[in-house]
Amino acid sequence: MGDYAEHARDNFANKGPATNVGKGKKKEVVFGIEEANALNAVNYPVKDDPQVPTVASAVTASDKTNAAVTQGRGLDVGTANLVSSFQDSTGNVNLKIQRNAFIDIDCDDYTRNMLTRLGVQYVVVNNRMVVVGDPAFELANIFNRNTRRPMKDGMISPEETDALPIERMLLETLLGKPKHQGENCYFSVPAEPIDADMNVVYHQGVFGGLLKGLGYDPKPLVEGHAVVFSELAEDDFTGIGISCGGGMFNVCVSYKSIPALSFSTTRGGDWIDRNVAHVLGISSSRACGLKEKGIDLANPQGREEEAVEIYYRNLISYTLKNIKERFESSSSMPSFPEPVSLVCAGGTSMIGGFTEVFQQEFEKIQFPLEVKEIRLAEDPLYSVSKGCLVAALSESV
Ligand SMILES: Nc1ncnc2c1ncn2[C@@H]1O[C@H](COP(=O)(O)OP(=O)(O)O)[C@@H](O)[C@H]1O
Ligand SMILES: [Mg+2]
Repeated sequence: MGDYAEHARDNFANKGPATNVGKGKKKEVVFGIEEANALNAVNYPVKDDPQVPTVASAVTASDKTNAAVTQGRGLDVGTANLVSSFQDSTGNVNLKIQRNAFIDIDCDDYTRNMLTRLGVQYVVVNNRMVVVGDPAFELANIFNRNTRRPMKDGMISPEETDALPIERMLLETLLGKPKHQGENCYFSVPAEPIDADMNVVYHQGVFGGLLKGLGYDPKPLVEGHAVVFSELAEDDFTGIGISCGGGMFNVCVSYKSIPALSFSTTRGGDWIDRNVAHVLGISSSRACGLKEKGIDLANPQGREEEAVEIYYRNLISYTLKNIKERFESSSSMPSFPEPVSLVCAGGTSMIGGFTEVFQQEFEKIQFPLEVKEIRLAEDPLYSVSKGCLVAALSESV
């Protein structure tokens, strides 16, 4: 937990004005302890027994006492959230989450005073004040603007010219420096999407490059596979992991930790927001607020909640049908002797009644695999990052 403050202090002491941000122009930006705090990543409370599962020949109990060997980081690169994870010397898992968004505002005295009064930290980039993370959302409301998003539909956004320097800044504050040069960092990448003409090669290369620049050895891990690693240890890493994100759904069917099938779709929470906004004649951000305010999908109240329920149902059914089709059309599927678990993670799975509706839609189709249970991940927002950490720790021993 102390790692973050330490990193900020080190950063300030060693580098002072260091980070270059802005539209490709080499302009020095002061980036010290306050600026690092501006990117106020939230420390996830460490639990009493936050052990991550181990894969195959991974860390054993006795290895854990030898803290020096637990090198490696996990990083969930999501459209909505970035989540980093590492294991400290006592075996606790530390997680930090940060909204993957920013806003830039004219640099005038009025705004500067207002930000100071509100206690919002900022960095100055090319004469504009840049605020990242959660405070960017609050400011967007005040200024009645949208936040800018470095990623879109699960990948680095082609429309956002400042995406790269902002991501570099966010990663630096989330991860800090590696414990040693070339420390493993497993980062999540989408599987190839089935419903969009996008390829993940560029996106993967960009994040690999950013992590390398920070001194890590970047290792991509398909997002659904990360869910399998964090949630299906007791099932010998056999079963179905689905990451239900903002930009995408990522699916992985795994047999003994090896992915038998993985794919993504570009429908997720944002897709629900867009559609609900369209039918109700409201903005996407209002639709998102409506969706997150605490609806029970199993018992929607009124026209607005019903609209959310209709699109959720459609999205779940679409996902299940795609798993079925891909599973049945593949000639190389292993046979699963036992019924498997299906686990959903990601922010979009956190709405009330999600598993009930999932179960109902599941019962409507002839699913090709016997499923013993459909459940949510223990911590849906942190599952992918924990899975990446499991992979990193498994390799470093
Ligand atoms: N309580 C909630 N109910 C419904 N949706 C939620 C809730 N909390 C977050 N979300 C949605 O989850 C999505 C973000 O989830 P996340 O897994 O972080 O996405 P990504 O992997 O794309 O970064 C957003 O679409 C957000 O609106
Ligand atoms: Mg995600």
